[in-house]
Parts: sequence; C-alpha cells; structure tokens
Amino acid sequence: MNEDALKSLREEALRTNIPIMQEETLDYIGSLITRHQYHTVLELGTAIGYSSLSLLHRVGQLSITTIERDEQRYLQAMENFNVFRTRDSIICHWMDVYDFETTACFDVLIIDAAKAQNQPFYERFKDNVRSGGCIIIDNMNFHGLDSKQAKKDHRRNLSIMLDRIEKFDAYIESSDLAYNRYDIGDGLLVIWK
Ligand SMILES: C[S@@+](CC[C@H](N)C(=O)[O-])C[C@H]1O[C@@H](n2cnc3c(N)ncnc32)[C@H](O)[C@@H]1O
Repeated sequence: MNEDALKSLREEALRTNIPIMQEETLDYIGSLITRHQYHTVLELGTAIGYSSLSLLHRVGQLSITTIERDEQRYLQAMENFNVFRTRDSIICHWMDVYDFETTACFDVLIIDAAKAQNQPFYERFKDNVRSGGCIIIDNMNFHGLDSKQAKKDHRRNLSIMLDRIEKFDAYIESSDLAYNRYDIGDGLLVIWK
C-alpha cells in the first residue's frame, strides 16, 4: 500500500473535519493485532475508511468488516478501498450499526462510531468476538472533557455524550471483565475475552 497516498488521505480527512483515529492509536492496534496473530476485525464506524486502510497497511493479512451509516462517507470509503485495491480484505456495509446482523465470530471488535452508543454497541456485538479475542473502544478520554463541566458550560449534547462515555466506563469497571485502559491517542479501552 502506498504510504504517501495514505498520508494524503489522512490530510484530506483532517482538512474536511472527518474524525479519524490518531496515528499512535493505529500503531497500538496494529501491533496488538500482529502480536496476537488476529486475522478478522469488525469495525463499527468506517468514516472514509482511513482506519481500515491503515490497519491493513500495518498488519498485512487482515480481513476487515466495517460499517458506516453516512452515505457520503460510505461512498468516499468505497472509492478509497478501490484506489487502494483492497479487494476482499475490506468489506464495507452502508447501514446503521443497529441494523447489522451477523452470526460470524471475529478476533477483534473495534467500536469507533457514535460515542454515546458505546454500551449498546458493546452489548450488541460482544458475543461476536471469539474467546481469546478483544474489544477495542476509542476516545474514552474524549479530549479530556468531562460531563459536569460541559453541563456548566450549557453544552447539553456534549454533556449527554460525555455522561454516557463515563457511565460506560463505570459499567466496565464494575464488571468482572478483564480490561486495560491506555492513555494512547484519545484514550483506548481494551476488553479481553
Ligand atoms: C470517529 S468516525 C470513524 C473513524 C474511522 N474509524 C477512522 O478512524 O478512520 C465515526 C463514524 O461512525 C459513523 N456512525 C456513527 N454512528 C453510527 C451508527 N449507528 N451506524 C453506523 N455508523 C455510525 C459516523 O457516521 C462516523 O463516520
């Protein structure tokens, strides 16, 4: 895969305000996938395909199923997958995550869609991750913002979203799941199955 073309795609996403994973997050996920010899990934939230392409570039042999509900982003992602000739390595579905049904079992689930929906997304797809696999959730620190401050600042929607991220964090903490939090990028949570 052409590194310069990938860099241009990243610059284009940043220029057009399309939210994409940070490089250090992708480095971490790429090395985790390589270390554990994982092969299959289900990603919630494709945007324009930057994270899928970057992981494929880092890992090499990988089969990624990724879901995006925004039509323009989906079309852009499909164009990018064509340009990068990903062929069967990346399958992209244009639909809402809630409408996606599968009986397949993946090595890795990446949750990177609507941040307020982390918990329902986790509950919906956790059983589609095989034993020994993991679930990765990005933006757990959400730029270091907290819901109470956002509420004080009258940023209602932001406050609700932050509150849901915090509640999801508390839910994981009070569970008996094996997990790690990493101060990588915007905060990563890895739940081990
Ligand atoms: C943070 S971006 C994904 C970035 C991408 N993973 C990357 O790093 O290149 C989140 C994407 O999830 C999509 N999204 C949010 N909620 C969704 C849902 N319920 N179903 C499908 N896609 C959703 C948004 O349209 C947005 O493009």
